[in-house]
Amino acid sequence: MAIPVQRSNSVKFKLRYAAICCLAASIVTPAFAQNSGADIYKAKCAMCHGADGLGTTPAGKALKAASFKDPAIVKAPDAELIAAVKNGKNKMPAYTGKLTDDQIKSAVAYIRTLQ
Ligand code: HEC
Repeated sequence: MAIPVQRSNSVKFKLRYAAICCLAASIVTPAFAQNSGADIYKAKCAMCHGADGLGTTPAGKALKAASFKDPAIVKAPDAELIAAVKNGKNKMPAYTGKLTDDQIKSAVAYIRTLQ
């Protein structure tokens, strides 16, 4: 009788240990991931702008997200794009307070690589 009880305790322990590890990993990973422009873009921007920056995702189409290959956006200075991300523009949400200035700069630098 004692053996099955012990086994189930050890399974419970392993599950609990695995759950704590997963939780720890999921808390730590985004903090690291947020630092690269590519990761910020994928996490915060790609749902509207698309992985390719063309704005052809369902949300992007519905909100009329700009294609980053649009000549007007290619020509626009970084400061203008950074201001649009900070303050929002029409249906584009404002990111002041949600991302740091450095994170916004890296996301815009990543957008340049998509053009
Ligand atoms: C909820 C959908 C959505 C999300 C999320 C989103 N955008 Fe946008 N974005 C838009 C839309 C819509 C526009 C077009 C705005 C307009 O010109 O009417 C836009 C436009 C832009 C522009 C062009 C601004 C200009 O000067 O024309 C840039 C740059 C941009 N977004 C960057 C980003 C970045 C960086 C992120 C992530 C931090 C992001 N967007 C997240 C919807 C979104």
